Amino acid sequence: MFPKRRMRRLRKTEKIRDIVKETTVNKNDLIYPVFIDENIKNRVEISSMPGQFRLPLHEVRDEVLEIVSLGIPAVILFGIPKHKDDIGSEAYNQNGIIQRAVEEIKDEVGKELVVATDVCLCEYTSHGHCGIVEGGEVLNDPTLDLLAKEALSHAEAGADIVAPSDMMDGRVKAIRETLEDGGYQDTIIMSYSAKYASSFYWPFREAAESTPSFGDRKSYQMDPANINEALQEVYLDLQEGADIVIVKPALSYLDIITRVKERFKVPTAAYNVSGEYAMVKAVSQLDNVDEKAIVFEILTSIKRAGADIIVTYHAKDVAKWLSQSPTAKAVSVSR
Ligand code: PBG
Repeated sequence: MFPKRRMRRLRKTEKIRDIVKETTVNKNDLIYPVFIDENIKNRVEISSMPGQFRLPLHEVRDEVLEIVSLGIPAVILFGIPKHKDDIGSEAYNQNGIIQRAVEEIKDEVGKELVVATDVCLCEYTSHGHCGIVEGGEVLNDPTLDLLAKEALSHAEAGADIVAPSDMMDGRVKAIRETLEDGGYQDTIIMSYSAKYASSFYWPFREAAESTPSFGDRKSYQMDPANINEALQEVYLDLQEGADIVIVKPALSYLDIITRVKERFKVPTAAYNVSGEYAMVKAVSQLDNVDEKAIVFEILTSIKRAGADIIVTYHAKDVAKWLSQSPTAKAVSVSR
């Protein structure tokens, strides 16, 4: 009891605060998203995401060299193909944009960088939905084969991790079986298990040109109101063979991250999505805003909630800030 017990004793100096700190953000926790576009000759900035670009294939080597030199351990790749059709056939073309990018990256940096690929059809379909469409419906079972083919083609190109983000039922099982049959038993599946039908994806859809041409994604992505459903999704994906599970988005879903981590005790990733990044960038244009402090506070909250891994567009900035001052986190978060 006061005055013997004084909580402020442990807040007195920066060094004291450092030794009692419960959560830190490290470069090792980060996965950086990279967009590769078959339609462009030079990099194009994504208008709602200052500092983020779509890259042509020939710029990918330099990009990954920079990422490795910053000390970021992993990337997740998204492809924008030249040709889109009803069934997203470029998604599983062995010569497709992602397949070629993975080969180039692995050739350049090998084991220095973990390469994950987003496995979904929405960037490759003319209608922008994540599965095969018939009569205005997104069909589940016929989509599974295509996703499995896509994942296998990424593994064949050398991907370390495949990350299905479509939210079809049974896709992890289909992918795991296809990888096993193809001899890729060590390919990691990082499943977007609890992926919500969120309004925070708009900059991504602009970047990936994947806005659905009709309707929305509510018949396959989750209702933001639900918790139990997220736990069921994670349970099923683990049963089907997922190694890492993702909760997405991150900030409005910190409670979900906590519950998933506490319940399942498996490697848990949080996707700090495009709209969350865009908000930070938009507010950072204003006077007297300390972007670095905001970013560290956000990432700290995601880790504190229980995430082991954070997929974030802030990864390069964070890596630079941490290199300038290893205690950047302490200084900025406690301000
Ligand atoms: C593909 C996919 C999306 C994101 C990751 N994979 C968009 C969507 O579901 O519409 C969103 C990532 C972000 O907003 O940063 N299905």
